[in-house]
Amino acid sequence: MYTNLLTSIENGILTITINRPDKLNALNTDVLNELDSVFTDVYKNQDIKGVILTGSGPKAFVAGADISAFSAYNKQEGEELARKGQEIFFSIENCPKPVIAAVNGFALGGGCELAMSCHFRFAAANAKFGQPEVNLGLIPGYGGTQRLTQLVGKGRAMQWMMTGEIIDAEKALLTGLVNAVFPAEELLSRCAEILSIIFSKSPQAVAKVVAAVNAGLDHTKNGYEEEIKLFSECFGSAEMKEGVAAFLEKRKPVFN
Ligand code: COA
Repeated sequence: MYTNLLTSIENGILTITINRPDKLNALNTDVLNELDSVFTDVYKNQDIKGVILTGSGPKAFVAGADISAFSAYNKQEGEELARKGQEIFFSIENCPKPVIAAVNGFALGGGCELAMSCHFRFAAANAKFGQPEVNLGLIPGYGGTQRLTQLVGKGRAMQWMMTGEIIDAEKALLTGLVNAVFPAEELLSRCAEILSIIFSKSPQAVAKVVAAVNAGLDHTKNGYEEEIKLFSECFGSAEMKEGVAAFLEKRKPVFN
């Protein structure tokens, strides 16, 4: 079905593996288009309850946007590329189902930006992060200047983007870029464990957490007002009735 992605569904988890290992899974237009189409399916497909996004091979998550196409681009094509990338990464960031990046190696440039567009990140011990675009006379274009700043703070983000520094997994953990670091062989199973915990919660509430958190980072919205709206929408819902009833009856809730 896809040329550059491997997909599999197990226990409600869609694992998407970007599969260009000979190019360290670099993001060309075909990969971007396929990511767009697979996330369109994630939104609609009731069999998919959550997503793990990872890269093929032991070396790279994604080593960046595909640099080989860049030399032919003019300003307008650069703008179109950034708009397209940002649109797709927004659809990942705003996905109502949980999306975890399993960073299994290099996550550089567009690869780091892709990982940052996921709801949170787990890393293998060999993972490496960075926004080294300054080496190419470029800056990040798929939301990296914004999301890196949100995740690690302005000072670190400025330093890393100005120097092109490559960050190892331990430093990524210390600075909040990733939530946990695991041995490479455990990475996918640890992601699946967290997803199975999330799947036992109210799906509607999980989706509202995503919407409320992202609203606060969207300059066109008021995050606090959005929170009031989303909070109030929970009242009277079947899932809230079940959650509250289960607590009062001292049993586990069952959310269908
Ligand atoms: N775009 C296109 N091709 C890429 C790529 C990218 N972002 N990153 C790696 N590749 C390709 C290499 O050109 C090479 O292809 P080849 O075998 O046909 O020559 C292949 O992937 C393997 O990469 P290589 O550089 O040989 O591996 P390495 O282990 O020596 O180095 C990196 C790994 C990640 C340090 C190095 O590939 C690199 O610096 N990549 C670019 C990172 C970057 O600047 N990303 C931001 C882009 S905006």
